[in-house]
Amino acid sequence: MGVPWPFQVRCLHLAFAFTVVILVFFFFSLNPSTLKPTIPPTRSFLTAETRMLQGNISFSGVHNGTSSEVPPLPQISAHSNHTTNSHSPTLDLTQGVPAQFIYEAGHIDVSADVCPDLGKNVKLLIAITSAPSHDSAREAIRKTWGSFARRKDVAIAFMLGSISNETINKKLEEEQNLYGDIIRGKFIDTYDNLTLKTISILEWVDNYCPKAGFVLKTDDDMFINESRLLAFIAKHNPEQKTIYGRLAKKWKPIRNKKSKYYISPQQYKPPVFPDFTTGPAYLLPANLAKPLYLSALNHTYLKLEDVFLTGIVANGLKIKRVHAPEFLNKRVPLTPCNVQKDISIHMIKSAEQFDLWKKLHDIAKCKK
Ligand SMILES: *[C@@H]1O[C@H](CO)[C@@H](O)[C@H](O)[C@H]1NC(C)=O
Ligand SMILES: *[C@@H]1O[C@H](CO)[C@@H](O)[C@H](O)[C@H]1NC(C)=O
Ligand SMILES: *[C@@H]1O[C@H](CO)[C@@H](O)[C@H](O)[C@H]1NC(C)=O
Ligand SMILES: *[C@@H]1O[C@H](CO)[C@@H](O)[C@H](O)[C@H]1NC(C)=O
Ligand SMILES: *[C@@H]1O[C@H](CO)[C@@H](O)[C@H](O)[C@H]1NC(C)=O
Ligand SMILES: *[C@@H]1O[C@H](CO)[C@@H](O)[C@H](O)[C@H]1NC(C)=O
Ligand SMILES: *[C@@H]1O[C@H](CO)[C@@H](O)[C@H](O)[C@H]1NC(C)=O
Repeated sequence: MGVPWPFQVRCLHLAFAFTVVILVFFFFSLNPSTLKPTIPPTRSFLTAETRMLQGNISFSGVHNGTSSEVPPLPQISAHSNHTTNSHSPTLDLTQGVPAQFIYEAGHIDVSADVCPDLGKNVKLLIAITSAPSHDSAREAIRKTWGSFARRKDVAIAFMLGSISNETINKKLEEEQNLYGDIIRGKFIDTYDNLTLKTISILEWVDNYCPKAGFVLKTDDDMFINESRLLAFIAKHNPEQKTIYGRLAKKWKPIRNKKSKYYISPQQYKPPVFPDFTTGPAYLLPANLAKPLYLSALNHTYLKLEDVFLTGIVANGLKIKRVHAPEFLNKRVPLTPCNVQKDISIHMIKSAEQFDLWKKLHDIAKCKK
């Protein structure tokens, strides 16, 4: 009668100990990572990207050097304003990285009001690349040649990237509240990211101003004689697949690895670039923004934005590049005559914009 009880207890002890051992074993056998929720890869080509970074993938046409095109990759959409993108800080551009691996679609500041009705009545959109700290250059432009934006058929916007300086960001916000003409892309605003800025302009035009006539892409240190430009536009048809500007012919990629402008064969194999229009100012039909945008994402990234877009990408789309002598795109003596006969002049300081603006109206002094 006394026997069954301790036996039962011993059995219970044994069973308990056994359960504990099983449980402990079970927990230790679990890999910590399996305890975390699994996050599916957002982009199916991340692994390809990783392999490419290790220099062990050959995109046909890139590494074998037939062109800078890369094979079709998923998830390109003209309207994907929220594509997630992984920015690997270790990206080695000389390996030849497709632009879509670097470019993140969408805009932080959209300023869609710049182009009412998707630009239906806008003959000319002037997209001015600027930097967050260049507030005085923007102010000078708004008060001088940018004042053409008051016309219903002309629109002006400043294209910026983002920065982390809170002081400047606060000022930018105030500026944006006053003028509403700032567009900001999702990339860090640096000189090396200029091509991203240009791609960002194309995406914006495609999304918010596709019905405009022409787009002038220019910089905030440029002087633009808008009446000359509008006269130029009046003589040209936006249905022509043509980019106008200052043509640069037969430029060769710099193959010296020490140069800031070094272009590796993986980035661009042929010995000369296709003809391109130089960056300070070029004019393109707004309806080319979409094909250029989609195709740009599909090309190997080059930080020379003019070579990349108006050379390589435009060439691939059979878009003509036509030389227009009025696009000076360089610094010239700022005489009333020069200012009056040319469309675009480069390297202008903010204070000079006001000076030039006066000279423009000083017609008497130009007796050519
Ligand atoms: C490159 O990939 C191939 C096949 O996937 C593999 O055999 C080779 O070891 C890889 N080389 C390097 C350097 O990762
Ligand atoms: C380069 O890639 C193209 C397109 O995939 C292919 O047809 C061609 O044979 C390749 N050339 C070399 C030298 O590998
Ligand atoms: C991207 O490039 C590939 C290969 O050259 C081509 O087949 C495809 O049509 C291109 N896609 C776009 C959107 O241009
Ligand atoms: C993003 O795009 C969708 C349509 O693709 C649109 O409805 C939405 O308003 C856009 N958002 C922004 C912030 O542009
Ligand atoms: C932010 O910008 C202001 C104005 O240009 C500058 O004085 C300041 O040093 C910058 N701050 C940082 C943290 O870079
Ligand atoms: C922009 O440029 C900076 C510095 O040159 C770089 O760190 C960054 O990854 C680039 N790309 C983007 C998408 O911001
Ligand atoms: C621009 O150029 C035209 C033509 O040379 C000239 O008549 C005009 O005064 C200039 N000024 C402005 C404001 O466009």
